[in-house]
Amino acid sequence: MNILVTGGAGFIGSNFLNRFVPRFPEHKFINFDALTYAANLMNLAKVADRPNYAFEKGDIADFDRVKEIFEKYDPELVVHFAAESHVDRSIVGPAAFIRTNITGTFNLLEACRHFWGKKEGRLFHHVSTDEVYGSLGATGFFTEKTAYAPSSPYSASKAASDHLVRAYGRTYDLPVLITNCSNNYGPYQFPEKLIPLMIINALEGKPLPVYGRGENVRDWLYVDDHCDAIWTVINKGRLGETYNIGGNNEWRNIDLVHKICEVLAEETGTEPGEYKRLITFVKDRPGHDLRYAIDSTKLKRELGWQPQETFESGIRKTIRWYLENQSWVESVKSGDYRNWLAKNYDQRMIG
Ligand code: NAD
Ligand code: DAU
Repeated sequence: MNILVTGGAGFIGSNFLNRFVPRFPEHKFINFDALTYAANLMNLAKVADRPNYAFEKGDIADFDRVKEIFEKYDPELVVHFAAESHVDRSIVGPAAFIRTNITGTFNLLEACRHFWGKKEGRLFHHVSTDEVYGSLGATGFFTEKTAYAPSSPYSASKAASDHLVRAYGRTYDLPVLITNCSNNYGPYQFPEKLIPLMIINALEGKPLPVYGRGENVRDWLYVDDHCDAIWTVINKGRLGETYNIGGNNEWRNIDLVHKICEVLAEETGTEPGEYKRLITFVKDRPGHDLRYAIDSTKLKRELGWQPQETFESGIRKTIRWYLENQSWVESVKSGDYRNWLAKNYDQRMIG
């Protein structure tokens, strides 16, 4: 089977390819990625030379390029990761999010509709986020029935893409599946996101910027568990359905940053206080969702998925990965990255 993986050079997409390309030599995996700032081909060094892997540079918002890819490979399965994924960037510049997340998803759906017609055995798997549900208060969980209430341009664009996917399922009988997952962490995550940003700043003795009072809560899942959940849904999910994926692992941001400092101190043979003294409360994110928490009962009961990684082992593995992969870290600290840090954090500093 030919599997088109969009956004396979980003964080989750590259973990997905590293996991499944070697396991399934009978399938051909085509990584279709625009190579934005968030992508890194170093992430794919382990699979780049495998005969069942191919890389195609291209933009999903460019329909002609999408058509070329469908003509060349006739994919039976599309696993759609490609997106602009960072909430703070969507606040500073929403246009790219509308283009990639909405128009890009629309283009892929159109290509499926035109190239697949009524052919059997095709599937469009849309990788989405729990952020489409908006914010929870102190209690409760998001289920697949929770109404959409996105807060940021990022989550609104993902919500729009989810609606398009469902609409193509209902209107054109396109075989679709959607998964909505909570916050991921693990190797190859671009250090604009909370966990890698804290690890890298701490190692450099830079401030650890915590938004507001650090009381917002996120449900963290190790990236391999997310990839396994997607694979399970692709293979066993009921067409047209949505499955929520979560870690049942809620952390207040401030507690998580303390935890990172503690594990980092153990791993580097220093005192946790050396890192904790860097914690700096900064101006909050506008529209900051208070709490995310996922109810994954449907995925667990119907399809038998269970996360394998504990947070204790997953966070240690992740911290070790960043410590042991300094060349990767250096490769992502480009001028663009430094510009982003200046743009996002200089105006947040209080006092
Ligand atoms: P990422 O930002 O690390 O990677 C995104 C990838 O998409 C990059 O390789 C980038 O080059 C590519 N891309 C961006 N625009 C493109 C375009 N126009 N055409 C082709 N490729 C393009 O993102 P991620 O964290 O790996 O997230 C992957 C998917 O999972 C996204 O759809 C995101 O919404 C979803 N998701 C992420 C998380 C999380 O915690 N990171 C949680 C739930 C869902
Ligand atoms: O829930 C799934 C979503 O998780 C995905 O859909 C998104 O693609 C992904 O980016 C992530 O969104 P978040 O906004 O939750 O992740 P982020 O790592 O940016 O922030 C996590 C929390 O930490 C959030 O409450 C904001 C806070 N934060 C973040 C940064 C970057 C800080 O306090 N300081 C920071 O510097």
